[in-house]
Amino acid sequence: MPKMLLYILLIGLIALLIPPALIATERSTVKKKPRVHLVQDMDNQHRYKAQQANEFFEDGRAMRPPVEGTVARNKLNDDAHFIKGLVGDEWATTFPGQIDVTVDLIHRGQNRFNIYCLPCHGEAGFGDGIIHQRAFKLVTAGVNGTTWVQPKSLHEKAIREQPIGQTFNTITNGVRTMAGYGDQVPVGDRWAIVAYVKALQRSQFAQDSDLPAGTNRSELQFEKLPEQETPDETTDDATNPQDEAEQS
Ligand code: HEC
Repeated sequence: MPKMLLYILLIGLIALLIPPALIATERSTVKKKPRVHLVQDMDNQHRYKAQQANEFFEDGRAMRPPVEGTVARNKLNDDAHFIKGLVGDEWATTFPGQIDVTVDLIHRGQNRFNIYCLPCHGEAGFGDGIIHQRAFKLVTAGVNGTTWVQPKSLHEKAIREQPIGQTFNTITNGVRTMAGYGDQVPVGDRWAIVAYVKALQRSQFAQDSDLPAGTNRSELQFEKLPEQETPDETTDDATNPQDEAEQS
């Protein structure tokens, strides 16, 4: 083989390495400018960036302020009963007209309660949720600087007797050490939770008048619930009516 041909072959082989080497550097180095972008797909277009100037408008701003009187979707706050749970200056004692209290609504409330409230207040609302149990353990173990306020039992007399507007407000804005859920839970769902809290409360304090007409109380079967461990007993007045029923 002539030497010349061998050199040409060798040079050609080395030259073949150049494109993969270029591609490898392109892929592995950090660049300030965008990579070569052959198919544009409308990715780069003329536009104004936030806070840029634009002579087209009289005030010279590219960002346009909302037209005066604009109300963002779902932000019309003119219905105090629905949005704040207030009727005049008093907590509402009825559900607002927008809310149909149906079994579906209560189920929705149960679903939301179990997501947003159960971790602290517990499945049945006695203030014994898993977060409370954990925090209580840390406090009792004296872990540095840990303090904890027990979530209220929703069956305490004072809370059972609250107007529903006040419970709605607690969910929306929080109360004392409890944070509000207004930003996370839409207003309709907050009312659904209120409806479910009412159902929960009634479940623990059912009256004879809640029984279907003609029920013979002595024929009812009561099951004793398994003992629950509540580390901090604040539920003094929350006696279980089933126990009472058994005693009487
Ligand atoms: C992170 C824990 C936590 C979560 C989650 C939580 N709460 Fe609370 N809640 C508390 C604590 C703690 C208190 C007692 C606050 C205090 O007394 O300082 C409380 C108090 C309350 C009260 C009593 C208000 C009053 O007037 O005394 C109600 C009613 C209530 N919560 C309902 C709810 C509902 C409904 C949800 C779900 C949307 C919820 N909470 C979610 C911790 C929580």
